Amino acid sequence: KQTGLTALDYGFVNTASTRSEITYIDGDEGILRYRGYPIEQLAKGSTFLEVAYLLIYGELPTEEEYLAFENRITRHTLLHEDIKHLFDALPFSAHPMSVLSSAVAALATYYEDSLDVHDPEAVEINTIRLLAKLPVIAAYAHKKSVGQAFLYPDNSLSFVDNFLKLNFGNFAEPYEVDPVLSRALDRLLILHADHEQNASTSTVRLVGSTDANLYASISAGISALYGPLHGGANEAVLNMLAQIRDSGEGVQRFVQKVKNKEDGVKLMGFGHRVYKSYDPRAKLVKESADEVLAALGVDDPLLEIAVELEQAALNDEYFQARRLYPNVDFYTGIIYKAMGFPTRMFTPLFAIGRLPGWIAQWREQNADPKSKIGRPQQLYTGATEREYPNGREFS
Ligand code: CMC
Repeated sequence: KQTGLTALDYGFVNTASTRSEITYIDGDEGILRYRGYPIEQLAKGSTFLEVAYLLIYGELPTEEEYLAFENRITRHTLLHEDIKHLFDALPFSAHPMSVLSSAVAALATYYEDSLDVHDPEAVEINTIRLLAKLPVIAAYAHKKSVGQAFLYPDNSLSFVDNFLKLNFGNFAEPYEVDPVLSRALDRLLILHADHEQNASTSTVRLVGSTDANLYASISAGISALYGPLHGGANEAVLNMLAQIRDSGEGVQRFVQKVKNKEDGVKLMGFGHRVYKSYDPRAKLVKESADEVLAALGVDDPLLEIAVELEQAALNDEYFQARRLYPNVDFYTGIIYKAMGFPTRMFTPLFAIGRLPGWIAQWREQNADPKSKIGRPQQLYTGATEREYPNGREFS
């Protein structure tokens, strides 16, 4: 007999786990707002750090608040020298998402005040540390994968420029940040900054609901984001496009395979639990893809395949009937590739973008006197009570 059970809801399709003031989505209308501000306006007028401030503290910063926030983050970009040995312990082929989640979990061991999860000052300083250090960890994961030396952060640069230099600079020659890349990456980070109760954010909240520290909670969120049905889709899209190109099978044949559900093939970068119309982020990403490729003079055949694939799907009855549209991950990989990032770095870029959202959601829950430890119920379908057999002996 099940007691107190109200509903079985695989994938939490119909269950709200929390109230939240942070992000609003209308999936039918294709609307996304952070703290009430439309994503289109933020993407046009804001910077990533300003959006991070908005998500975490609830309001857009004044100029003074913005500069103080930026300055604090800049002063926390250094990683403890010892934590760099963690990178030595991992193979150069390590997926950067595994490196990220391991290193973020390990950060807690350096900052014992992170255990004081109900001390606002401790929460604040660890918020700043995490915002400052995650991009550095991601850049080092990249450097490790290509066998190059880690650079120290350059605190004379902006948040995004510093990140680009840590990834693409080296000791042999000077590195000039391309402003087109910088602005495009900043804009992409804004588009990823929060998306209410998606799988990784719900993971961050669930882990945080046990009063686990911020690093442990975010590390778990990174692990949830890694999967190809979630943030890992941006990497999977590029692999899918490359596979269509290399196999020479053509877009129509690939679409047919998806429709037949052959070998479980899906159209990666399409479909969304909440958006049943065009993902507003995908529109903005496509604009960025056109801009960046034009500015860099890149002519990528994968972009042509992507455009052809998108049109084929949008005009197809299978996708129309299921209301499947491109999501944020469909075109981002093409931009990251043009910027010079290897495919495996795409999901870490998503993680850097999503970090302010995770932190804002963790803090909202942490400050809510009504929040409780997360503990879903189940419908038990196993054996009824049975007697343990007497005299059982293994020879
Ligand atoms: N390709 C082919 N068919 C699909 C796809 C797809 N990408 N997405 C959904 N469907 C079909 C699915 O097979 C089902 O068909 P049927 O009713 O015949 O069984 C129907 O559409 C409904 O799909 P669902 O699996 O019930 O939808 P969901 O809300 O559980 O899953 C999703 C959402 C995003 C996991 C899914 O659309 C998907 O796997 N997409 C591909 C991976 C992807 O692009 N993920 C990124 C999501 S957006 C950003 C992020 O979160 O990181």
